[in-house]
Amino acid sequence: MSDDRASLAAKILELKKAKNAVILVHNYQLGEIQGIADFVGDSLGLSQNAARVKADVIVFCGVHFMAETAAIICPKATVLLPDRHAGCPMANMITAEQLRRKKKELPKATVVCYINSTAAVKAESDICCTSANAIKVAESIDNDEILFVPDQYLGHYVSTKVNKKFHLWPGYCPTHVRIQSQDIIQLKKENPRAKVVVHPECRPDVIAVADEVMSTGGMIRYAQRNDVQEMIVGTEIGIIHRLKKENPGKKFIPVSEQAICPNMKLITLEKVLWSLEEMRPQVTVSENIGIKAKAAVDKMLAIV
Ligand code: 13P
Ligand code: SF4
Repeated sequence: MSDDRASLAAKILELKKAKNAVILVHNYQLGEIQGIADFVGDSLGLSQNAARVKADVIVFCGVHFMAETAAIICPKATVLLPDRHAGCPMANMITAEQLRRKKKELPKATVVCYINSTAAVKAESDICCTSANAIKVAESIDNDEILFVPDQYLGHYVSTKVNKKFHLWPGYCPTHVRIQSQDIIQLKKENPRAKVVVHPECRPDVIAVADEVMSTGGMIRYAQRNDVQEMIVGTEIGIIHRLKKENPGKKFIPVSEQAICPNMKLITLEKVLWSLEEMRPQVTVSENIGIKAKAAVDKMLAIV
């Protein structure tokens, strides 16, 4: 890290202390942002951390639904998202109004919403899930009919593991659909000893050629195993930084250099510093929606 970047990081850490803040960072964030984190993890780990936070301020380095989930879990904390444009296109593929209409068509179904959704959609759902616990959550439901929103591919993956009737909302992640099964097959030929690990947001034909299907946090833990020396990685390329840093000497091969989430990359050290100085942009959730959304998130957190 250059002196400039190091001095920016030092200023952030000073201000963080003065404001009694914590910095929560997703695994896809830039390396220099991971470097200032109190915790780096997947959506589940970040939610569990938010639930334990005693700080007055949470600086969320990720995308909007993640910061919003922290605001749902900790209604008293000030939640900052250093770039207000850092959204998740998948989360915007269903609105609360659309979900209300679908629920009328399927009155017997239990609604499971992926955490990559807005607070208003969570408020209309029975239970939330992440990529790390979606199977467990679906299994825990005392109903054979599930409406899964908004990720059709995560929903499809869960439906192959849990013997229930699934209705899938046609949302998807624009970054993960860039990961192609033919690229994995080619990489596997070139690296025959490598394990193929993909995220459940990938399409079914990608899942079919993988050795393991995991959340980003699951991938971080899996890479630490002694029997894993080479890994073909099917998710957003930001995770490669942490995989390499924590496992020197091991080989990590991204399936596609094109699998970039541009929203995740909007957060920079400059924006984190500015955000802490100005105490904005803040992410808030109305009390009415927050209480209902929290019920769906708390139900999930009680399972894992
Ligand atoms: P994880 O919860 O597995 O980190 O996934 C979050 C996400 O947005 C994947 O695209
Ligand atoms: Fe959303 Fe996909 Fe980016 Fe994850 S990688 S935040 S699902 S757009």
